[in-house]
Order: sequence, then structure tokens, then C-alpha cells
Amino acid sequence: MGLPAGRALFEKQLIRRGPVKSMLLFERDKGIFQELHVACRTDEELSSIDRTVLPMDVDRWMTSAGRSMELPCHDLTWLDYCGPVTTERLSHVGSLALGMRSDGIFAVTFMVGREKVDVDQPSLVELDTEMLSLAQLKRVRTVLNAVDLKENNFKVTIQPYADGVPMLLMIFKKSLKVGDSYQPLSRTVVDIRKTLKGIRPRRRGRPLKVVMIDGDRYSSADEAAQQIGCAAQTVRNRARSSSFPGYKYI
Ligand SMILES: C[S@@+](CC[C@H](N)C(=O)[O-])C[C@H]1O[C@@H](n2cnc3c(N)ncnc32)[C@H](O)[C@@H]1O
Repeated sequence: MGLPAGRALFEKQLIRRGPVKSMLLFERDKGIFQELHVACRTDEELSSIDRTVLPMDVDRWMTSAGRSMELPCHDLTWLDYCGPVTTERLSHVGSLALGMRSDGIFAVTFMVGREKVDVDQPSLVELDTEMLSLAQLKRVRTVLNAVDLKENNFKVTIQPYADGVPMLLMIFKKSLKVGDSYQPLSRTVVDIRKTLKGIRPRRRGRPLKVVMIDGDRYSSADEAAQQIGCAAQTVRNRARSSSFPGYKYI
């Protein structure tokens, strides 16, 4: 299921890698829909598969009654909004992530860094791929909070989507492929790709202490918190508490 725009470039790459049985595609812009409609009929790759193209807003489709029951059947949902994080979308991100197939992948792209604070401080709008602004990071947190990560195990990978524009790609998985089968995850891991490191300014005066969590090493409680998707203070408290033997400062 996806938002392929007029030329369905990503979808065609998927078909080349195959096997793709069917696709459910949405486009709300009439002009772009027309282009896609023509491509689906005339392009050999696109016309070779069973595809449904709906000229409508995917958010509206998802809000219609009963749709949430149909969504888990998709093994890949790729919502390439490249648009703002809205309350409605957060709610969809939450239900899609929770309802996705256990061997599925759900990916979503958002525009970040266009909040008033960024526009007021133009230097923050530039996404050089080394740094994300704090406002962008807050958006990441908002999206993650929309999914109840505490009650569910996910691997969430967050990375810049395109060079030079403030877009984020978030990928949710519920299991990892081991050989030919899928192994459920035992905890939530939030993997913020290296290019996003350094996004939190270090607090002065607080020395960084290495933390081990269930055998994984993190250079600080802040980094561990980002990776596993909880508050840094929670990591610090657990590392000091005997009730959490898996957490320790080294
Ligand atoms: C960023 S483009 C997708 C690009 C495409 N994935 C690619 O790799 O070439 C997003 C497309 O989705 C459409 N779109 C954005 N939000 C939508 C929504 N809520 N419902 C339907 N279409 C939407 C836009 O009109 C645009 O054509």
C-alpha cells in the first residue's frame, strides 16, 4: 500500500525485485492521479501486477469505517507523505504500526523542521545530514509517542529521507528475519541512524557515563534512551536500581 505519485518510481523498483502480487495505491491530486492512472495502464511493469489506484486521500480512506481491519493484510505499507505531522496522521501511524502484520514493514516519511521555531530561525531549517534540529527531534518523539511502544515490541529506524531537505523516514518492524522465518522482537529498539547523532546538545556539567542494557553498550543514558525509546532519566534510575539487573553503568 502506498503513495507513489505520478511515476511510481519506488513501486517499480519493488516490482523489479519481486515477487509483488498486488498494490493498493492512493493519490489525492487530480493531475498527479491522471499521470499515475496512465502509467499504470501503459507501463509494462506497473500493468503486469494487480493494482488498485484510488483517486482519494489516504487519510480519509483510513478513517472510513472498517478500514483498520483491512490494513494488517499489507506486508509493506509505505506512506511517503513527505508532508507535515498532523494529529490525524499520528493516529494513523499508531494504528498502522500496532495493526501491521508481524512480518510486515511499515514506513512513513514526514516533513519536519517547518514549525514556526524553524522558520523564525532559518539556520535550523537546513538539514545538513549530520545534524537534526531540536524541533525536528521533538517531532520524532511526538511520532514515537503516538505508538504505544511500551506495550509493544518494535524496531523503529529513523533516518534522514533526502539530502538537504528536512524530511524523516521512519521504519517500523515487529520482527526480524532469521533465515526463512521471522523472530518476534523482545523489546523496542529505536535506532536513530548515525547521521542523526549529536542532535541533543550535551548538558554541561553532567559527565557522560557508559550504560549497558541487556548486554548492549551505550555511550550515555541519553543515547540509550534514544535507542530504546524511553526517557533518559528512566535509564539512569534503572542503572542505579537493583530491580533492573539488565541495566548497569560501567
Ligand atoms: C512525496 S510524493 C511520493 C513520491 C514517490 N514515493 C516516489 O518515490 O517517487 C507523495 C505523493 O503522495 C500524494 N499525497 C500526499 N499526501 C496524500 C494523502 N493524504 N492522500 C493521497 N495522496 C497523498 C502527493 O500528492 C504526492 O503525489
